[in-house]
Amino acid sequence: MQTKIFTEENIEEAGEIIRNGGLVAFPTETVYGLGASAFNPDAASKIYEAKGRPSDNPLIVHISDKALIGKLALEITSRAKKLIDSFMPGPFTIILKKSDNIPDAVTAGLDTVGIRLPSNETAVRFIAAAGVPIAAPSANISGKPSPTRVDHVIQDMSGKIDGIIDGGECSVGVESTIIDASGERPVLLRPGGITLEMLREIVPETMPDEHIFKSVSADERPLCPGMKYKHYAPNAEVIVVEGEKDAVQAKIRALLKENRGRITGVLTMYGSAYDEAVILSAGDSDRSYAKKLFAALREFDALGVELVFAEFCEKDGYGAAVKNRLYKSAGNNVIHV
Ligand code: TXA
Ligand code: MG
Repeated sequence: MQTKIFTEENIEEAGEIIRNGGLVAFPTETVYGLGASAFNPDAASKIYEAKGRPSDNPLIVHISDKALIGKLALEITSRAKKLIDSFMPGPFTIILKKSDNIPDAVTAGLDTVGIRLPSNETAVRFIAAAGVPIAAPSANISGKPSPTRVDHVIQDMSGKIDGIIDGGECSVGVESTIIDASGERPVLLRPGGITLEMLREIVPETMPDEHIFKSVSADERPLCPGMKYKHYAPNAEVIVVEGEKDAVQAKIRALLKENRGRITGVLTMYGSAYDEAVILSAGDSDRSYAKKLFAALREFDALGVELVFAEFCEKDGYGAAVKNRLYKSAGNNVIHV
């Protein structure tokens, strides 16, 4: 299949592909999404095939106008309404009881649906051009780091989908905050650009799910099906070294010595220099770390790095989103120093 690259200029044509049951990847403020009509079960099924995604992992439905939420959701509690009013549009997904308008192929049979109104203008224009809500996971091969630049999408999806909209680099860099507001008490399922602190300012009862920073064991059924799958993993082995600057640098120096035979890399947030390792910078704030993390993991792979040490120390509320992705990319291989 020939994959066509679209820009702002021919976005209407990209929307038409969606309306006709095709697949188009598009930029959002978080990561690139791989879209299909949320009203077309066959189109939604093709997403699973293109990504190699397990069929029990539901898709988020993207809208261009808040007014649509009432059509997609069966009920909106007063707490859910407060969250919608505060955080949409933005890097935020709300899970609500679904209406019959959403096919089971989109929600993997769940009776809830995740709804998101992006703040990225290209995304909103594209969804509006499609004229239907767009079901979309991140536009990466299942298990790989999410795409934050168009070249990442081309790498993973070229030849497998109808089109890709080039919208430059994603500004947030990690996927949306997911909040389950289908019950009385909202539960944070995935941290992102909207932090727990921000959520609690609006709904103080909001609770984080226990699985956010740990692995899910084989016999558990997490609220968020995606939690049980391997995520964000580059080909390289990733080890997080977490703590204050001096201790982290000393530990990584020792680890590099122990691993001399391997091609090593370091993702630095302290601006560190190490001999004989490929160094990539995550910047010195949690926000820049979020923006650069997935691209850096892909870059290490492109450079043939076999073992990556990631410096990390959570600094503010945004850090929780970085920590969640970083720990998962490392398969929870974390050394605290
Ligand atoms: O920022 C984002 O959310 C990006 C962009 C493209 O919008 N999308 C994204 O989709 O990250 P995806 O499929 O890679 O991650 C969605 C996660 C999955 O772990 C899935 O299990 C969970 O959301 N999810 C979707 N619908 C759900 C539902 N009804 N109940 C619980 N979890 C749900
Ligand atoms: Mg994903």
